[in-house]
Amino acid sequence: MDCIETDAHGSSAGYWPPDRLDALARSLLSDERYDHSLRSADTAVDLCARYGLDAERGRVLGITHDVCKEFPRAEQERLAAGHWETLPPYMLTEGRFLHGPAAAVYLAKLGAVRDAELLDAITWHTTGRPDMGDLGLALYAADKLEPGRSSWRDGLRARLDAGEFDGPSGLRSLAAAVAALTMDYVASQGWPIAPGTLVLYNALTGEDLGSWPAR
Ligand SMILES: [Fe+2]
Ligand SMILES: [Fe+2]
Repeated sequence: MDCIETDAHGSSAGYWPPDRLDALARSLLSDERYDHSLRSADTAVDLCARYGLDAERGRVLGITHDVCKEFPRAEQERLAAGHWETLPPYMLTEGRFLHGPAAAVYLAKLGAVRDAELLDAITWHTTGRPDMGDLGLALYAADKLEPGRSSWRDGLRARLDAGEFDGPSGLRSLAAAVAALTMDYVASQGWPIAPGTLVLYNALTGEDLGSWPAR
């Protein structure tokens, strides 16, 4: 897709200034969803500071990741169908996941976000996937851990605050813990688990099918 480029900070940061992105999100989202985006941005900034990542890029991800969440389903499907990557079918047919790829396409076409790493993080923020970059992991975790989210994450937030996920592999451990908690919750509700989340968990923990105990 020719509107995507990976350009360095300086002459162009690969995205609009955060204030302009904030105004875009404000114009597209309900109060509730906009507030979630701001809390996700603050959490992403905290995680970027903790793990040595660019905090402004984390803020951009938090502000923009859900900009298409309240678009009509047909519009989300139309946008996602134009994604430059060959996405697995569940990403294009399951309503909960559509808004990630839809937002990436929407933001890229608008020129609001042009950086390939940021667009990849936005595409996959709901389910995660293996081989996510650190910013993608930070958004994945921030979206699930922001303080407005339900209380079943409180224990994990406390472990983060207590330093359990400090250190060079901390972000990967944190994302694995988020994936595990998410899978537990989803299964407890009787819902299907997104393939991307299962594969992300296995990739982050180094587990493979051969290590499973026989039962
Ligand atoms: Fe989302
Ligand atoms: Fe979100």
